[in-house]
Amino acid sequence: MQIGKFDLSRYPIILAPMDGITDKVFRKICKEMGATLTYSEFVSADAIIRNVKVSFDKISKNEDEFPFVVQIFGNDPEIMGQAAKLVESAGADIIDLNFGCPMKKIVSKGAGAALLKNPELMLEITKNVVKNVNVPVTVKTRLGWDETSIIIDNIARGLQDCGIAALTLHARTRKQLYSGNADWDYFLKLKSDSSFSIPLIANGDIDNPEKAKLLFDDYGVDGVMIGRAAIGNPWIFRDCNDYILKNISPKPISINERLAICKRHFNELAAMKNEKVAIIEMRKFFKNYFKGIANIKQYRVALLEATSLEEIHSIFNDIKNIEEKV
Ligand SMILES: Cc1cc2nc3c(=O)[nH]c(=O)nc-3n(C[C@H](O)[C@H](O)[C@H](O)COP(=O)(O)O)c2cc1C
Repeated sequence: MQIGKFDLSRYPIILAPMDGITDKVFRKICKEMGATLTYSEFVSADAIIRNVKVSFDKISKNEDEFPFVVQIFGNDPEIMGQAAKLVESAGADIIDLNFGCPMKKIVSKGAGAALLKNPELMLEITKNVVKNVNVPVTVKTRLGWDETSIIIDNIARGLQDCGIAALTLHARTRKQLYSGNADWDYFLKLKSDSSFSIPLIANGDIDNPEKAKLLFDDYGVDGVMIGRAAIGNPWIFRDCNDYILKNISPKPISINERLAICKRHFNELAAMKNEKVAIIEMRKFFKNYFKGIANIKQYRVALLEATSLEEIHSIFNDIKNIEEKV
């Protein structure tokens, strides 16, 4: 897949942007596990032009993180254009526009998925951003606002005409939020439309290597983007690459391997942010890091209740002992 000047692999497996999840530490781990491309958490264009430090921290990249995509959201073409310029200067290799976030606090400001109700404004924002920067611009969106207002066919071509370099489609409506199934038939529809020629990245419910391969082989998509299935499971990138490129089926991940990555994730997060923040943020990951291990429940609960670094490390030791007993 080609995004502007960036020649990515034939079968890119991409880490989805996830607010509160895809910070610098987790992105580094996923990249090492084989993610072809990583995205920042979304940042507000308003915050960028106001020079808000937390937002700039979110878009700081790891040394070997290349190409790195920064995702911005907003609803004002001028502000989005200015923010894109600043983000480009801050080191973004690609800029992605968020036209799909369903959260009330974003939608109520006319940003994210709200733009599915205002396609003209969506296109105006996109045009202005493309005009303002030299790096490739991409878009991530959904099918439409609800099942009665699906606009993806038209908007995809409109966005292409604005000069974007790739489109990511989370194949749900805004109304669905994360419920029901992503409707992958829309990938087929777009890929069979001869007037739509930019790369299409498929997103929604891809949670194993078989599904990733199916999307490339039978749906003809150019890239596959994985979100929730990567939380506490960065091995999914290695597994997808192994399965698609070498026909190797995933092997179970040992407790030691899980512990090593989880510990590293926690320690690096504590060093980058601070102990308290790391303890709270890691709660979203613990469940999946230790998924499928017998007799883990009491330790998982303890990890969720722990309030100090020492407690967490002592629970990690207890988990290690489970394996030693096995
Ligand atoms: C916790 C969380 C945070 C998210 N934050 C963002 C975000 O910042 N930007 C964005 O475009 N999508 C965001 N998403 C949506 C994901 O990128 C993705 O589109 C969605 O989860 C569907 O893919 P999946 O089925 O692989 O999870 C978020 C999803 C989750 C679960």
